[in-house]
Formats: sequence, structure tokens, C-alpha cells
Amino acid sequence: MKLLEDKILQEGNVLGEDILKVDGFINHQVDISLMEEIGRDMAEHFKDAGVTKVFTIESSGIAPSVFTAKELGVPLVILKKQNPKTLRTEVWQTEVVSYTKNTSYQLTLAKNYISDSDHILIIDDFLANGEAATGAIRLIRKAHATVAGLGVLIEKAFQPGHEKLESQGIHVYAQASIKAFENGKVVF
Ligand code: G4P
Ligand code: NA
Ligand code: NA
Repeated sequence: MKLLEDKILQEGNVLGEDILKVDGFINHQVDISLMEEIGRDMAEHFKDAGVTKVFTIESSGIAPSVFTAKELGVPLVILKKQNPKTLRTEVWQTEVVSYTKNTSYQLTLAKNYISDSDHILIIDDFLANGEAATGAIRLIRKAHATVAGLGVLIEKAFQPGHEKLESQGIHVYAQASIKAFENGKVVF
């Protein structure tokens, strides 16, 4: 998606070896017009996939997923990163480990927001190691629903997420695919 690539080149900042800071338009301040275009592009890509619901993971996936769900005309469900102590009986939960942030959390979904006839599009801001998306897929499968695909704004193609998911038969669409960071510059 040219619009997103241009924005990354203009306003993104490479931090260290493998982090792209996009605080000015995705992760902290949010460019709503860009999010709307992102939602349209996601919806266009997945329009024939039979999507019944959009799932995202709090918090940075929410803005683009709002516009995606609106364009597709389906409900949006925000998966929560819950503290294990708040476990309730009517939820599906699975542990997600983040290598980038060296943390883990219980990805949580109330059982009444999914049914076995759902075909779910997962939307997130970044795809790195694919742990968050894999956790979302585990929850969807626990509920005997199916996955329509994964749409991400930015993937770091040099990290294993994309390949790991495709090898499980998940269709992955990345609007901006970063091949490498070279001398502090983004290479698509
Ligand atoms: P994975 O799901 O692909 O395995 O990703 P990982 O655990 O490595 O990522 C953990 C968090 O770090 C995620 O945000 C993810 O979006 C973010 N992240 C990963 N790589 C980058 C990067 O290069 N730049 C930026 N800005 N973020 C990155 P999160 O903890 O779920 O937080 P939230 O922002 O959604 O609230
Ligand atoms: Na995220
Ligand atoms: Na993030």
C-alpha cells in the first residue's frame, strides 16, 4: 500500500537493529485519515473471503480494525490482554509470549462473542514473530470457528511471523512489507 509505505519513509524511525517507531501516526498519535484508507484497503483485499467478524488485539490494532470492520459491515471484537488472576469461566484464554517486549499475557475472549459458524479476519498493526496472531488463532480454534486471514499494516519480513503463519495455511496480507533495515533506513 503506497500511502502507508510513503508515510513510513517520511515519518517512521528505525530504532536499533529491528524496531520501527511509528508513534506519530499508529502507536501513540493516530492518523485517522490514514486509518480509514487502511481499513478500505483491508476490506477490499478480504471482500470475497466470507468474513463474519473482525478480531484485533488491544491496543494498537484497534484504530485500523474499526475502519476495516465498518467497510466490511461486520462486528469488531477486541481481544484483551488480561491478567491471569482475573480468570473467569466464560472466557477462552491462551498465553502469548512477546519476544520483542520480553513479556507474556493471557489473550482473552469472552465465549459469547464467537460462535462455531464465525469466519474471522484478524487485524493487527505489526507482524514480527507472529506470537500474537498465533494466539488469536488458538482462541478461534478453541471455539471451533475458522480463520479468514490475517491483515497487518506492517510486517518485518526478516522475522519469522509471516512464514510461520503461511505454513499453517493462514493467508497473510501485509500492507507494507519491510525487507530489511539498512543503515537506519527502511527497505521494502
Ligand atoms: P509478534 O506478535 O509478531 O510475535 O510480535 P512481538 O510479540 O514481537 O511484538 C510485541 C509488541 O511489539 C506488539 O505490540 C507489536 O505490535 C510490537 N512490535 C513488534 N515489532 C515492532 C516494531 O518494529 N515497531 C513497533 N512500533 N512495534 C513493534 P503490543 O505489545 O501488542 O502493543 P500494542 O502497541 O498493540 O498495544
Ligand atoms: Na500490536
Ligand atoms: Na504495538
